[in-house]
Amino acid sequence: LDNGASRTPPMGFNNWNSFGCDVSEALIKQTADIFVSSGLRDAGYEYVNIDDCWSLHQRDAAGNLVPDPAKFPSGIKGTADYVHSKGLKLGLYADAGTMTCAGYPGSLGYERQDAALFALWGVDYLKYDNCYNQGIDVKQRYQAMRDALLATGRSIVFSICEWGENQPWRWGREVGHLWRTTPDITDTWGSVVDIFHRNVGLHNAAGPGGWNDPDMLEVGNGGMTDTEYRSHFTLWAAMSAPLLIGADLRTMSQETMSIFLNRQVIAVNQDSLGVQARPVWSDGTRHVLSKPLANGDRAVVLFNEGGAATTISTTLQAVGLPGGGSTLTDAWTGRTSRTGEVVGAVVPAHGAVMYRIRADQSPPAGATNLVGGSSGRCL
Ligand code: DGJ
Repeated sequence: LDNGASRTPPMGFNNWNSFGCDVSEALIKQTADIFVSSGLRDAGYEYVNIDDCWSLHQRDAAGNLVPDPAKFPSGIKGTADYVHSKGLKLGLYADAGTMTCAGYPGSLGYERQDAALFALWGVDYLKYDNCYNQGIDVKQRYQAMRDALLATGRSIVFSICEWGENQPWRWGREVGHLWRTTPDITDTWGSVVDIFHRNVGLHNAAGPGGWNDPDMLEVGNGGMTDTEYRSHFTLWAAMSAPLLIGADLRTMSQETMSIFLNRQVIAVNQDSLGVQARPVWSDGTRHVLSKPLANGDRAVVLFNEGGAATTISTTLQAVGLPGGGSTLTDAWTGRTSRTGEVVGAVVPAHGAVMYRIRADQSPPAGATNLVGGSSGRCL
């Protein structure tokens, strides 16, 4: 949605992947505190987002949604005030149907009333789910909430969560700031690979103000190895996905934290050009992605989804850079090296290497402008 919000993919936290319905004011406040103390806020993580199950099962006599006082003793407003006092923003969840997926009141038919309440509470981000939608046209339902949010006058990031069922990459940009492209992620390598395959080809839809959303991060939730989590984070960053942490920050390991805090990878995700990495080569399980960056550099990902280490290589020309030599910085080791035409690495099983590449010569005119897939050379 071109209203000035979300010029780069949103970064933050959402409780769903590790807590499900077990959300509370205490958890949200503790997470905000950790954002500050751990350096996550300074690294760019901004939104602390509440998912399903925050309200009572009934609206009040005036038809308003009511935060569950057992879970949110200060209400959403009090929780938002606390989060704002830490220099962060608060996200909330609602549903474009008669009930949320977990059975709490939905917002279908209450869009104006609910959006006005969210704005009053100080909500900065709304994830809008798709359960119990009565078979009503998806665009109609999501546009109703878009218009209601815009009418509040508050800047609220609008996250379309219809699970990629109605090709939202074709219409999401008019309606929201990000749109889920896939079914729910799980904390498994198979899920990460499946979602990568579904999302990677949708690069033409992404750009400042509107992003493909391959779902929230599972990094740190225990079902994958650290190598797999680094690959997950690398791929999501390169695909200009929202970086929404889904782990329990209160108990996460140092290794998990170092993944979230990788400044090189974050910089690729948050680059102001806002171009999603495009696949430049693949043999089915080995992949090369290239993401043009605002200063003319390219981020290149060599991804090995297979179970054995393998060499993956490409050329400067294939990734959209002029030949003749360049400097590579490995985003995970920080090591810098020189290369000629060929860019390659031995990539471990389930691994991903990310290089930031600066060519000695400046890129050919128009080369940063690869949006639209018009350049056959790069595909
Ligand atoms: C389905 C969504 O895709 C999930 O991310 C989560 O919000 C659940 N609904 C909550 O019920």
